[in-house]
Amino acid sequence: MDDAARLAALARRAADEVRDGMILCLGTGSTAAAVVREIGARVAHGLRITGVPTSEKTAALARDLNIPLLTLDDVDRLDLGIDGADEIDPNLDLIKGAGGALLHEKLVGLACDRYLIVAASEKLVPQLGMRMRLPVEVIPLGWRQTAARLEALGLHPTLRAPDGDAAPFVTDGGHYILDCAPAPIADAPLLASRIKATSGVVEHGLFIGMADRALTVDGKGPVTAIACPLSG
Ligand code: A5P
Repeated sequence: MDDAARLAALARRAADEVRDGMILCLGTGSTAAAVVREIGARVAHGLRITGVPTSEKTAALARDLNIPLLTLDDVDRLDLGIDGADEIDPNLDLIKGAGGALLHEKLVGLACDRYLIVAASEKLVPQLGMRMRLPVEVIPLGWRQTAARLEALGLHPTLRAPDGDAAPFVTDGGHYILDCAPAPIADAPLLASRIKATSGVVEHGLFIGMADRALTVDGKGPVTAIACPLSG
């Protein structure tokens, strides 16, 4: 099975969780986009759902697929969130935000009754911070001073600027991202609270206690479901 077939199998399995009438969080990133495309195909065949997108990019994709959309402010709760991740630890705590959508992903994800992660199995790590940088979304004003405060926490932040010295990456919320390089994170809730308490920080990419389940796919193809060991 090639990469595209594995992604399609993962997307089908995730879309099987979707029922008529649901309000869904539509995630961001290449894996979540595959799920949105699969849901769009099912909508074209009569599935009735409403999506709340987690980024402008996902909203544009969903509109192309004629998926009815609402914003987070139009709803109280969502039935199900389906999103990707950059790292997944054994408790299904996550690092997200490599795509830069972490703030809206977290706000929409926190409003979901169930939150399902879809990812390639290489995203599974024994401890967060081993594989990817930790994105922290910050207010543009004073970002250098905010970066210095994060440096004092040992996070070694660098401003995300995909075109080298050109303009910084700007999130859908109009903020900058500081990509941090913590050592492997021994106490993610503690680090999360320290980052959140830092002036200038809007949000960070640690998604703790949010995911109930993850669907992963490895090089051989079968989709594996992992339940959060901490949820009841
Ligand atoms: C977007 O900001 C991210 O949180 C993505 O969900 C995450 O980076 C996973 O993306 P891929 O599925 O493209 O790896």
